[in-house]
Amino acid sequence: TSPFAPRHLMSISDLTSAELSTLVRNAASHKNAIKSGQGIPASLQGSLFGKCVALTFSKRSTRTRVSTEGAVALMGGHPMFLGKEDIQLGVNESLYDTSVVISSMVSCIVARVNGHDDVANLAKHSSVPVINALSDLYHPLQTIADFLTIHEAFPSTQTASVKGLGLEGLKIAWVGDANNVLYDLAIGAMKLGVDISVATPKGYEIPASMRQIIQDAAKTSPRAGTLTETTVPEEAVKNADILVTDTWISMGQEGEKVARLKAFEGFQITPELAKRGGAKEGWQFMHCLPRHPEEVSDEVFYSPKSLVFQEAENRLWAAISALESFVVNKGKIV
Ligand code: CP
Ligand code: NVA
Repeated sequence: TSPFAPRHLMSISDLTSAELSTLVRNAASHKNAIKSGQGIPASLQGSLFGKCVALTFSKRSTRTRVSTEGAVALMGGHPMFLGKEDIQLGVNESLYDTSVVISSMVSCIVARVNGHDDVANLAKHSSVPVINALSDLYHPLQTIADFLTIHEAFPSTQTASVKGLGLEGLKIAWVGDANNVLYDLAIGAMKLGVDISVATPKGYEIPASMRQIIQDAAKTSPRAGTLTETTVPEEAVKNADILVTDTWISMGQEGEKVARLKAFEGFQITPELAKRGGAKEGWQFMHCLPRHPEEVSDEVFYSPKSLVFQEAENRLWAAISALESFVVNKGKIV
């Protein structure tokens, strides 16, 4: 075991409400400084100089890979991408041996895995911080980017709380599959006082154990959001500020494609659904990407209501913020 226990980021559940707000605020502040031409903030400049961050990915990725590699480079470190065809993990070497060995040579491991236990076990045996880059249960870097996007899109609501993000009272409607991206988004919503209404087809609801985790997250917040669930998309959409979805077929579920496409009929996000359900006039659309046309029409996806490309870019700023707190500041989120 290591001399000091590193702090890992497995899920948004690992953060207090204030810490989640701080990660988002830091991401926003770095984004503004760099994009306005002020340059890389002194606290970030060279902050990973001489350090290596291993990116061990068992699944495909565009945004998570590019954003984390870019973030490490911006901070002066060296990102080392290790795809599943590159290393011995899973074929010739156990997860335990791999964790001990990789963590002895790098300053952080960013890991994309299949089962959540894989990233949890990696963290358990790693002497350096491990950041979950997507497991079957959680996608915390996505959630940080998503709340940065909401923070930017709804500045008018931001008077309520001094320390938080001031998003209290906003309503998210999630229409689609109950999956990893939803779970961390819902946990974050509970912590930030954002209400979330989830519509899934019958048989694709949030599992009871996950519902409990989301409700437990609400207990950790001074001003908690609420979770409601339905099998009727129109019900979820009612009075929503933000309509969100994700693919109906997550990586690893390709064999269920035919059954899922059938089960999710009627769940496509369209202007008609938003109207029938009574979404708020100024509703906005979000999607973590990659997107398929069945879950959202082109009319919405490429419309001015769509925040998707800003949301994708925000993955970079979220990655910088997470690396700053978990690696540079050794788990102190300030
Ligand atoms: N949203 C997201 O995580 O995308 P990638 O799978 O391309 O990383
Ligand atoms: N739910 C999707 C998210 C991809 C970023 C998946 O797990 O494949």
